[in-house]
Amino acid sequence: MSGRWRWSLPESGISAINPFWFTVSTNNRLTLGVNIDHVATLRQARYPGAVETHNREPDPIAAALLCEKAGAAGITVHLRADRRHIQDADVFRLREKITTKLNLEMGNTEEIVEIALRLRPDDVCLVPEHRQEITTEGGLDVVGQFDALHKTVTRLQAAGIRVSMFVEPDEAQILASARLGANMVELHTGAFANAQGEAQLRELERIRVGAEIAHAQKLQVNAGHGINYVNIKLIRTVPHLQELNIGHSIISRSVFVGLENAVKEMLTLMNG
Ligand code: PXP
Repeated sequence: MSGRWRWSLPESGISAINPFWFTVSTNNRLTLGVNIDHVATLRQARYPGAVETHNREPDPIAAALLCEKAGAAGITVHLRADRRHIQDADVFRLREKITTKLNLEMGNTEEIVEIALRLRPDDVCLVPEHRQEITTEGGLDVVGQFDALHKTVTRLQAAGIRVSMFVEPDEAQILASARLGANMVELHTGAFANAQGEAQLRELERIRVGAEIAHAQKLQVNAGHGINYVNIKLIRTVPHLQELNIGHSIISRSVFVGLENAVKEMLTLMNG
């Protein structure tokens, strides 16, 4: 599905192939991975240590199933070293229950790599992780940590897991990701999301150039962080994008319109 041109079918009521239904569009159909960490954040705020209390809510697995029902192509979770939101039991229940794709975001530590090898998510997205941060800040330094990352990518891929590197839209980091054999990059859209006006357009241009570089290296191009119902209109102009991972804005909107509607609204904005 890579490349600027594709043949597409209209969405509804297809019972047989009719040549007049084919249209040409200028970008891939974007798929959505919903990051459900913040459902677990809400649960942990009330039930931080109580592993088995029957009152624990909201359940991230129930949320994941609603996201799938609404059309999400995958579920994304970040199993952090400090377990501040998603817990080990959550990822194993997700693996068992969801029917789309499981994308595990993780730092490159031996403890979490071993869990990933037991869990066998479809995808892993390697991210930098710092204990004091509120959310993932900045992209991975693939250039600086090349050897350690290469070892992990090789181990994960040997287990049949596709690996993505969460990087800034920076040429050196993208080229290093290709050199170490990653399947995908997820371009960090945080700086773009935080910027406004001209500065935001400059950040968008960095992402566009990054997407071109990654695509030329035959990497699948994904993006994530800080994408919301407003800035998605600019993000969807980036070429070669295949998958967006979006969490906070969808979970926030679900407070007002419900999770299924929040996912459906984002999907509509993503693909017009
Ligand atoms: N992609 C990656 C790699 C992330 O670390 C995060 C945040 O956990 C997201 C996507 C989702 O970001 P947001 O919650 O801002 O949509």
